[in-house]
Amino acid sequence: MTQLLHIDASIRKRRNDNPNHDSISKRLAHCFVSTLKENTSIHNYMYRDVGINPPPFTDQDWLGAVFTKKENRTEEQKNKLAVSDKLIDELIQADIVVISTPMYNYGMPAQLKAWFDQIVRINETFSFDLARGDFPLEPILSGKTLVLLTSCGEFGFEAGGVRESMNHLAPHIRTLSKYLGCEQVFEIGSEYQEFADFRHQSSLESAFVKSRELALKLV
Ligand SMILES: Cc1cc2nc3c(=O)[nH]c(=O)nc-3n(C[C@H](O)[C@H](O)[C@H](O)COP(=O)(O)O)c2cc1C
Repeated sequence: MTQLLHIDASIRKRRNDNPNHDSISKRLAHCFVSTLKENTSIHNYMYRDVGINPPPFTDQDWLGAVFTKKENRTEEQKNKLAVSDKLIDELIQADIVVISTPMYNYGMPAQLKAWFDQIVRINETFSFDLARGDFPLEPILSGKTLVLLTSCGEFGFEAGGVRESMNHLAPHIRTLSKYLGCEQVFEIGSEYQEFADFRHQSSLESAFVKSRELALKLV
C-alpha cells in the first residue's frame, strides 16, 4: 500500500480557460499520479500546490526556534515551526514523493525552495555531527522514492547537453533529495516549451509516455 506525497510547484494552474496556459509540469504529475491510482491502491494521498499556496520563507526567529531544544520552546516558537512540523510529518508518511516543477531562471521556483527550506531541518530530517569529519550531515529518513517531473522552455540541460552547466534545477533537487530520505530518483522532463514547435510536441508526448510507464513500473 502506497503513501504518496504530491508537490506541484508551477505558478500556473493545471487547467485554464486557455489550454495554452496549462502547466505542463502539473499535467505530467497528474498523468503519473492518475496512472498510479488506477493501477494500485494508494493508502494515503497527500497533495500540496506550493506554486499557488507557498509555504512561508524561513527567518531568524524560525532558525532560533529550530535551534532551541524541543522541551524549551516557547508557544511562539512552537507556532513558528508549525508549518515545518506539518510538512515534515507529511514527508515522513510518504514512501513515494512526486515533485513537479518548472525551471525558472535556471533553477527551481522560490515557492518550491521555500518548501525545501521548511523541510530540510536539523534533528528532524538530518543530523549534524562533526565527528563525521568533512561530511557532518546525514539524512535521518530513508527508503523513499522521488519522482521528479519538470518542464522548461529551452533545451539541452541533460548531461552532455548544450546547456548542461546552466541546469540548477534537477541537480539541486537531486542533492536535496538525500535529505528527504529519497534513495531512488526518477526524472522525466519536457523541454522546448518556448519554441512551441515540433520539438516541443515530441518532447511533451515522450514525457507523458514515460510518466505513464514509470507509474506502471512503480505499481
Ligand atoms: C519566471 C519564468 C522563468 C523561466 N525561466 C526559464 C529558464 O531559466 N530556462 C528555461 O528553459 N525556461 C524558463 N522558463 C520557461 C518555463 O520553464 C516553461 O514555460 C515551463 O513550461 C513552465 O512550467 P509549467 O508549464 O509547469 O508552468 C521560465 C518561465 C517563467 C515564467
